[in-house]
Amino acid sequence: MYQAPRGTQDVLPEDVPYFAYVEEVASRFAALYAYEEIRTPTFEDSALFRRGTGETTDIVEKQMYSFTDKGNSDVTLRPEATPSIMRAYLQHGLHNRPQPLRLFQLVNCFRYDRPQAGRWREFRQLDVEAIGEDDPALDGELITLFWRFCEALGLQNLSLELNSIGDPACRPHYLDALRAHYEPHEEELCGDCRRRLVVNPLRLLDCKVPSCQPVADSAPPFFNHLCDACRDHFARLQAALADEGIPASLNGRLVRGLDYYTRTVFELFPAKVSAQAALGGGGRYDGLAEQLGGRHVPAVGFAAGIERLVLNLKDQNVVVPGGARPRVYVGHVGPKAEPMASEFARNLRSRGVSVIRAVGERSLRARLRHADSAGARWTAIFGDEELQNGTVCLRDMTAKEPATLPISQAIDQIIRADHGGTK
Ligand code: HAM
Repeated sequence: MYQAPRGTQDVLPEDVPYFAYVEEVASRFAALYAYEEIRTPTFEDSALFRRGTGETTDIVEKQMYSFTDKGNSDVTLRPEATPSIMRAYLQHGLHNRPQPLRLFQLVNCFRYDRPQAGRWREFRQLDVEAIGEDDPALDGELITLFWRFCEALGLQNLSLELNSIGDPACRPHYLDALRAHYEPHEEELCGDCRRRLVVNPLRLLDCKVPSCQPVADSAPPFFNHLCDACRDHFARLQAALADEGIPASLNGRLVRGLDYYTRTVFELFPAKVSAQAALGGGGRYDGLAEQLGGRHVPAVGFAAGIERLVLNLKDQNVVVPGGARPRVYVGHVGPKAEPMASEFARNLRSRGVSVIRAVGERSLRARLRHADSAGARWTAIFGDEELQNGTVCLRDMTAKEPATLPISQAIDQIIRADHGGTK
């Protein structure tokens, strides 16, 4: 038997309404804040992610689904959406449009990660980006959008973690302070952290290995080492969030796993926090456009994990709107009644009523059993008698008693009940 590849999942019909609900509310919220949808390719030139996401990130070092295609191009299934959106911005000269350009997309992403609860190798993201402006009001708008979107989904007890990781002016000084803090403890660090100390010291703060926690916990937070411009930016962002009534906890250890961030970084957590539990995260990435060979373009964005949102909706017992249920089950008993039953189904569907048309030859008992389990509101059965009299045996499944009616009357009854909103 074949199985879905490890880290991927089949979303069965009963779970699809959760995903449809999250994505519908996501699109509605994006529109509410005037973010326009953009669609970019599922795969890109691998170099885009190596340069954009960053050579020293786990994503690029360990997790990319990269392959050489038949034309010898090195391509990668997108592990995240931000570099693609910035590429599209630069490629199409979108700086000529009114700025900031507000964009979103709902996409599947691919990361060769270790699968566990809420962590998949193929997953979906709501990705939201605002490009072309460095005003912290925009960082505030994005965080607000994210927070209000989660609230609108019905999630409770959200918490926001916030940090600033400076810019090219203040980061070197902070990294010196960080190295000075870590170097006396080098012996106690895990292998990864010893390497990080040399190649990417900021990521030291991100380590989850227990023996590295005391050193990381006592490290000086970046927000105490910001240059004047970054300090002012961070203060104005915090004021904007306070204005919106969104509580932010400062977390000096929050650095995020992608290389492009400058200044603002944030993550949103649900009520039950486990190691993998961020609903989403993001930040400002003022250097990415230049990193990709373009002009200087300040930008800020976030991505939320759709599977994680669904997981938390289920955890918090949030009821989501169900999928569309069929209204009428139409069955024939005996081959002669088949055309009449089909005509009845056609008639209903042309009026917008959803119909399950029974197929194959079955007994009346079998038809009724099937109708019952299918969960339709009405069952309409055609046999020899109905054929002769031009009638239908119609059963309102909420009342159980069947009635034999002229066809037009049965259709009227179904339509009237449908519009009357019963059940
Ligand atoms: P990220 O933190 O790598 O950021 O991913 C954002 C969210 O995607 C995570 O918080 C999580 O909810 C979800 N996610 C990530 N990996 C997985 C996985 N393996 N399985 C399930 N869900 C996952 C980014 O991707 C940035 N592009 C966000 C951003 C946009 N920054 C600026 N603009």
